[in-house]
Amino acid sequence: MSEEIIVVRGNGTLKGEVSVAGAKNSALKLMAAALLGRGQSVIHNVPLISDIAIMGEVLERLGAQVEREGHTLRIDTAPVDSFKTPYELVSKMRASISVLGPLIGRFGQAHVAMPGGCQIGARKIDMHLVGLEALGVKFDVAHGDLIATTPDGLHGAHVMLNFPSVGATENLLMAAVAAEGVTVIENAAREPEIEDLANMLVSMGARVSGAGTSIIEVEGVPSESLHPCEHTTVGDRIEAGTFLVGGALMGGPVTVRGIDPSFLRMAIFKLRAMGCEVETGQDWVRVERTKPLVATEIQTLPHPGFPTDLQAQFMLLAARAEGVSVITENVFENRFMFAAELSRMGADISIEDHHAIVRGVSRLQGAPVSSTDLRAGAALVLAGIDAEGETRVHEIRHIDRGYEDYVGKLASLGADVSRTSVSA
Ligand code: EPZ
Repeated sequence: MSEEIIVVRGNGTLKGEVSVAGAKNSALKLMAAALLGRGQSVIHNVPLISDIAIMGEVLERLGAQVEREGHTLRIDTAPVDSFKTPYELVSKMRASISVLGPLIGRFGQAHVAMPGGCQIGARKIDMHLVGLEALGVKFDVAHGDLIATTPDGLHGAHVMLNFPSVGATENLLMAAVAAEGVTVIENAAREPEIEDLANMLVSMGARVSGAGTSIIEVEGVPSESLHPCEHTTVGDRIEAGTFLVGGALMGGPVTVRGIDPSFLRMAIFKLRAMGCEVETGQDWVRVERTKPLVATEIQTLPHPGFPTDLQAQFMLLAARAEGVSVITENVFENRFMFAAELSRMGADISIEDHHAIVRGVSRLQGAPVSSTDLRAGAALVLAGIDAEGETRVHEIRHIDRGYEDYVGKLASLGADVSRTSVSA
């Protein structure tokens, strides 16, 4: 039995220019939204990653035709004649739950396997369900499947979210566009990917305002009036932030292209606070560091707060900074597993409840380590570039879920990194 791993030799080099792909956490939902328009939608700037392939399988299982031409997807949902998404696909990727809203919007019903948790937390969907119930959806659970019906039709409602959940906001939005009447989603998630989804829905004929703010208003239109569209996915701010952290750690300069810098304001603020020079342009960000890294304090929060998906990457920076940093994870209940792996490389990190106390060290040593989630995996590879000696990163399927050609892009920036198969 063989396993593919990433082998990194610490040469401390990462400099040059790299382009980011389209945002994973937008493209997956844009694909689901295509279910609302009966016909062929075209989505550009879609990343070539395994999660996208799984979402393609979900749509094909529903009856859609999905064709990929490079970074463009052509999704014909006219043939969609099922509203059932089976466990074996949802269990492979919990983001499949994003088809719940559009299936309800199109068919008034859905039969979707309940997503499980994952390494970083329980990943509940109670806010999705409560919000959709307010729109007239009735849920039954049978043998792990969610069975959604709308016996009295789908109608607008004023929904207040307890927490600005990204997934709940998206599912509510994709159902509300076809509900009868007006829906207000209050305390909505404000991530840039929400705005991207709303823009696509509007180009399909939906009436949405306020996306990107905490109050989104939707004026429902007849489901049949929603039509296919052509849309380009926004750049991936988390992939961009990952490469910027690499440039900050090794000194750079690294320029990341294909990203709107306004998506990364908090991350850029923290890079500067830790001693980096950061320049921005219309669709690029450049980072360079000529001074020692300085400790900082980070609170992960919903956008525009510090993104939880960059927490592991910044923990790595903190592990090499002068002084003691405190990182607080407020979004997920178990997202510090990266700390244990980084400690194997010599980092000095202690975890107290949802706080990580990170004491900077002058050097990391290469070691065999394991990816616990895709962001931790990406950060471990960066740690290997900085460390002394060789680092072998296992469980790299997590990285392949969210990073297109991560090894190739790092190698193009001068890293000594490669993929290889080893007998497990
Ligand atoms: C999305 O997950 C992203 N995934 C995550 O990215 C990201 O970390 C997260 O948003 C926060 O920004 C995708 O877009 C595919 P949430 P999502 O609903 O929608 C709890 C990555 O690395 N919650 O905002 O699941 C939940 O358990 C991934 O690319 C409830 O309790 O995030 C979590 O603790 C990781 N009940 C918190 O809220 C609910 O009904 C935030 O979840 C919904 C959520």
